Amino acid sequence: MTHTQWYKDRVFYQIWPRSFKDGDGDGLGDLWGVYEKLDYIRSLGVDGIWFSPLYPSPGVDCGYDISDYMDIAPEFGGMAAFDKVLEGAHARGMKVIMDLVVNHTSSRHEWFQKSRRRIDPYTDYYIWRPGKANGRLPNNWDSLFEGKAWQFDEVRGEYYLHLFAIEQPDLNMDNPLVREEVKKILRFWLDKGVDGFREDVITFISKADGLPNDRLMPAARGLRKYNHGPHIHQYLREFYDDVLADYDCMTLAEAPMVNPKKALTYIEEKPGQEIDMMIQFQTMNADCLATEYVHLPFSLRKLKRAWSRWQRGLEGRGWNMLYLENHDHPRVISRYGSERMRERSGKALAVAYLFQKGTPFIYQGQEIGMTNWYPEDPEMYEDVQTRWHYFNIATRKSPEKRLRRLWLASRDSARTPVQWTDGPNAGFTEGEPWFYVNGNYREVNVARAEADPDSLLNFYRRAVALRKRLPVVRDGSYREYDALSGRRYVYAREGAGQRLLVVCSFSEAEQRFRAPAGFDLGAAELALQNYPDAPVDALRPYECRVYLWQRQAAPRYSCAKSPTTGSGS
Ligand code: NOJ
Repeated sequence: MTHTQWYKDRVFYQIWPRSFKDGDGDGLGDLWGVYEKLDYIRSLGVDGIWFSPLYPSPGVDCGYDISDYMDIAPEFGGMAAFDKVLEGAHARGMKVIMDLVVNHTSSRHEWFQKSRRRIDPYTDYYIWRPGKANGRLPNNWDSLFEGKAWQFDEVRGEYYLHLFAIEQPDLNMDNPLVREEVKKILRFWLDKGVDGFREDVITFISKADGLPNDRLMPAARGLRKYNHGPHIHQYLREFYDDVLADYDCMTLAEAPMVNPKKALTYIEEKPGQEIDMMIQFQTMNADCLATEYVHLPFSLRKLKRAWSRWQRGLEGRGWNMLYLENHDHPRVISRYGSERMRERSGKALAVAYLFQKGTPFIYQGQEIGMTNWYPEDPEMYEDVQTRWHYFNIATRKSPEKRLRRLWLASRDSARTPVQWTDGPNAGFTEGEPWFYVNGNYREVNVARAEADPDSLLNFYRRAVALRKRLPVVRDGSYREYDALSGRRYVYAREGAGQRLLVVCSFSEAEQRFRAPAGFDLGAAELALQNYPDAPVDALRPYECRVYLWQRQAAPRYSCAKSPTTGSGS
């Protein structure tokens, strides 16, 4: 089957189902809620949806701990609701991709329950090891969520590996039977009609032979031994050859610690390509060191370097996935923009990434400028990683300091319910919401944004529509200007008879601006901007502009008017 690369023309919307919209009044977002909002999603100009996990799950990691891969959780509406949503999305011209989480399962998954009892064929489905002498663990790896990466299981009398929560045991992908299970899952959903997968930490699925100790920095020990492991390409290739090659589908791989060169070993567009796009983390690190928990002041230069590195690094060889937010990171306006200039900076951020080359993803709530959440009590946090951090790490720091760290770092900020109205529970549910609604919902909500032609929401619509109208955004070259500026991001796109200049201020203060040499702004169309009035010489706070030059199509001969005798010109 030909892979038509349809994803190159699309804009995706990510739904984190628990907090998107509750349709049945139980306080938890669900597929009935999604069904209600399909027209809204489409109205953004979006034509693809990525669903974070919808499968049955105990919910220790909000669905990323799956107990049945071939079903939809009853609390999300079950398979009947999914079928309706899939049909409804397709009827509106939207593709649908699922989250494939196969580095680990839930410990409640039947495979694990049988594996711990050594019931074949499941005995070696997971990574089991006896402890070492003197009660030492099998190796020194850390879990990314809580403590060490090994948990002793009384039933089996051995340790199992869990790179994430204790209830998320890692699958043993070296076992061919496990790989067959993955292929069954892929086929099941593709045969159902889904259009592809976002593959959760897929670069972790092959662990170094012998599971050796690692000497990397504490708290991420092991990362070098299980990320991009020795058989990763073999396994991904196998999934491709045995299943994905038969469908015109798309794959998007989540890949921590990857640079463009490494990414190309997976996504380079040549025979043997394993994956279509990668979720890289470098553009998420402009205010931190590898993780949001090690906070640094925001550096636009760092962000621009990462953006340009990926634009240039993949040029002509691979395809970028573009994003500012997802369910694993705090809200971008609070990080890279300004809460004081919420909508203005949200627009600048939107323009900064939407006109780059690649496939953009918009995370639920991003389009209305939802911001971080600042609870007073650490007990209000829900996320397993966040709670571990507060209660077990840096405990010698004062509670106030630790709480402030969560405000900056916790992914729960991206998981509060979507704010639909200024009514009770922000219109998210008629029941008791499963999680706290951000207190700013009276000001920040979809209904209010709909009513305001200048809202961030309507700006997103215009930006997406413009992007789709201009072939240069899909195919043109990328060139950054003013790379050393720490206050503005300027880049050009060129090709297909069109030229774009994108200018974004990342400052609350006005700044001087001169167009790069060779760009005659007077001859350009100002195709998009976030100030109502004509631009001045200076760049105003968080101002963004998209200038467009188009080569005029040669005038066509028309019978109605003679080109020589026509009155008008
Ligand atoms: C990455 C997912 O995006 C995140 O939400 C999850 O907690 C981990 N992988 C573990 O599945």
